[in-house]
Amino acid sequence: MFDFSNIQGNILRGYASFPHARFLYLTIRDASDARSFIQSLLDAGSVTPGQWQEKPDATLNFALTFDGLRAFGLPEESLATFPPEFREGMKVRAEVLGDVGKSSPEYWDEPWKTSRVHILVMIYGKMTDALEERCRTLRQLLPAGVTELGPDQPAESFSMDGETARREHFGFADGLSNPDVEGVPRETGARKDIGNPDHSGRFRKIPLGEFILGYPGEGGDLAPMPLPNLLAHNGTYMVFRKLEQNVPEFRDYIKAQAKSFARTIPGGLPDRVSAEDFLAAKMMGRWQDGSSLIEHPQKPARSLANAFAYADDPAGARCPLGAHVRRTNPRDALGFGGKTMSRHRLIRRGITYGKFLPPGERDNESRGIIFIAFNSGFDQFEFVQRFWVNFGDDFEQGNDTDPIVGVGGRGQMVIPGDEATGRRPFICFDIPRFVETKGGDYFFVPSLAALRLLASGRVHAS
Ligand code: HEM
Repeated sequence: MFDFSNIQGNILRGYASFPHARFLYLTIRDASDARSFIQSLLDAGSVTPGQWQEKPDATLNFALTFDGLRAFGLPEESLATFPPEFREGMKVRAEVLGDVGKSSPEYWDEPWKTSRVHILVMIYGKMTDALEERCRTLRQLLPAGVTELGPDQPAESFSMDGETARREHFGFADGLSNPDVEGVPRETGARKDIGNPDHSGRFRKIPLGEFILGYPGEGGDLAPMPLPNLLAHNGTYMVFRKLEQNVPEFRDYIKAQAKSFARTIPGGLPDRVSAEDFLAAKMMGRWQDGSSLIEHPQKPARSLANAFAYADDPAGARCPLGAHVRRTNPRDALGFGGKTMSRHRLIRRGITYGKFLPPGERDNESRGIIFIAFNSGFDQFEFVQRFWVNFGDDFEQGNDTDPIVGVGGRGQMVIPGDEATGRRPFICFDIPRFVETKGGDYFFVPSLAALRLLASGRVHAS
């Protein structure tokens, strides 16, 4: 067993009931000020753990970059034990991650473009009042040696027509599929059909060590741990990316292709399904309302079920091999009962920013997702991003990238035909890049005990 109350909140438990968020970016100018700042927050019980007696109105969590750990005064022998991707940071990894062209760091938003954030403070609220109050209190506590890098990042999740599922800006239900982690009590109302398929295609829980340092992972082994153990144990690594979505461009593209796509369907479209909706679903791998193409290949069914697998759809007749959800979690599609992908799972805790653009409207506002993913090594995220999102070879898609979030650059996507219905194959050509990176970094999220250790200033590598 593990101590849930020592692991920071929002890692193993989603903050779905806290729809308002603010991300504050801090830089450390004086290590002892930084230490007493963290100590004062710990003393006041302000850092939200994974388990609480009474649900708070607002939550507060911390993450640190490599430069942040150094600014805290961590000794070099300890710093040297952190993974290379983390030490380099996201800007240095730009080429590897596909942050090129307009997504390259020179075009990022502030503060990412010109500074390196040391501390990321993540504040979530049930209501905006509670969120504002928590931000105000935090800012009042900031000592002279810890300053804020502006601007902060507001974010807010939204849903449609009274639905419980959250939507993202292209209009799809999001936050549906996440790993079911061993030892973590299921949240009230959470679905049972999450996890990884085992050799018989059934869903099973994933070992804690895939996400939290100090516990066995899929192979029974521990992920490499930075030193000292007390600093690493119950901590995790976090990917934080500001991903801007070009909604008008996405809608224009779908509209332009939809007519030709409709011509591949003998006898016309299914009842009450537009060619636009059908095509967008093929690119995502789920209908906009969240129902899976595997279970509902002809029309959406208002189902958020997640217990589907791809082995019975080897050619992608129902869910295309290159669709976003099939690439990012191929489940059993790559054979070996799903084992090939079991080391590449991510806990996603993203939240949208910017206003939803009603269909048919255009504006110049920026909107997108603050993509947040937890893993016990950045190789988990980087593998998905490099080889599954920005390359297609594992899925027999050659150089084709993810049609929704890939580097694209006028790439293509094959939508296989369906012998069962007579629908002919279709190729989406010239897919623009719909999602641009606007900032982010790699973070370490220490346990509460590790935060106390950092605040004490007595970190020794041995
Ligand atoms: C703006 C960018 C993105 C958008 C709009 C987006 C949208 C979505 C949607 C609508 C789903 C289906 C709902 C769900 O299962 O929760 C999904 C699933 C998923 N996405 Fe993304 N996504 C984005 C970026 C990314 C990135 C960059 C990655 C990883 C590198 C990623 C990894 C995943 C994974 C792992 C799943 C779950 C698949 C499954 O388990 O079936 N997404 N995404």
